[in-house]
Amino acid sequence: MDITLSLTNVLYVVRAVFLLLLLQKSQRKQFGQLPPGPAPKPLLGNLLQFDVKEPYKYYLKLSKKYGSVVTIWLANTPVVIISGYEALKETMIGLGEEFSGRADYPLVVGSAFSPADMLSNAVANVICSIVFGHRFEFEDPQFKFLLQTVNSVFSILNSLLGQSVFSGEIDEVVGKDRWPSIEDRQKLPYTDAVIHQRSMDLAPITVPHKMMCDTEYNGYVIPKGTMVFPLLSSVLIDPKRWKNPNCFDPEKFLNEEGQFMKNDAFVAVGMGKRICLGEALARTELFLFFTSLLQHFTFKAMGPPEELDTNPTASSFGRTPRRYECYDIPRI
Ligand code: HEM
Repeated sequence: MDITLSLTNVLYVVRAVFLLLLLQKSQRKQFGQLPPGPAPKPLLGNLLQFDVKEPYKYYLKLSKKYGSVVTIWLANTPVVIISGYEALKETMIGLGEEFSGRADYPLVVGSAFSPADMLSNAVANVICSIVFGHRFEFEDPQFKFLLQTVNSVFSILNSLLGQSVFSGEIDEVVGKDRWPSIEDRQKLPYTDAVIHQRSMDLAPITVPHKMMCDTEYNGYVIPKGTMVFPLLSSVLIDPKRWKNPNCFDPEKFLNEEGQFMKNDAFVAVGMGKRICLGEALARTELFLFFTSLLQHFTFKAMGPPEELDTNPTASSFGRTPRRYECYDIPRI
């Protein structure tokens, strides 16, 4: 092999890269009036700029810099990020139909096999059969997201058990002689508040949406097929809408009389046309499991509670509460 041959190869590669860049530039131009955002790098777009484990933190930063609608590029693909209560309401509810498509997106949900995973797959599939009337393939990305949220429901239970503050409230309202029922919820505001507070951590971004048609919003045009990330965490930790937004503080759901207080900024399950289908089921299950368990057991951490890390672990779109081992002491 001589020098001329390898030089020819190099020239081929340079030409191919050059053509690719030109093609990418013209492709990006086609998207015309997309909202502003950080300048995309050739080929990779903005991929190298964020923490892959917790991308929502990067999106929050961008929304502070560029405003409530921002465009980022995942290589060649533009993604529009919507943040803030007003913008989410205007798009997810006001332009609900236009923003209601579902995008395909590779999800990273767990990797190793475990029998427990198989079991929860089966449980989740039963839920899907009830909700949708059909079962999913285990590898289906939408099913994997669902599985993650369903698992989160059970992990919420797990992670709540260290806190026995509410046993008193449950004893007083339900007592020991009957099981709790859903009608008790109104009389157990603190318990309800804790469950709400815990579910605020799970989905910083919804499952990706996709534009159903070219849509004008805020002076920009978002083309049909564009992927959209509604950034729920921008509302869930908005200091203008919550007391102690970054702390685990159930009191943010209670008024001065200790009654449960609704807040429109509780968007943990999404908003508009694509709002979580399992919301009512999740809330009912969490309430009934949780109150029944605390009615009968006191749960104690195996180590000092102050050493427990209560921050959820990051995984793709969701955040999963950690698992803890604990003692369950029957309450007599
Ligand atoms: C506290 C627990 C849960 C949370 C925080 C949660 C949150 C969410 C979120 C943020 C979305 C996306 C909304 C959007 O794209 O705009 C979603 C969608 C969905 N969730 Fe949940 N979820 C929970 C429990 C469940 C459960 C138990 C089920 C199953 C029974 C379920 C079924 C669904 C389904 C089917 C969708 C897709 C709806 C659609 O595409 O139209 N979720 N959920």
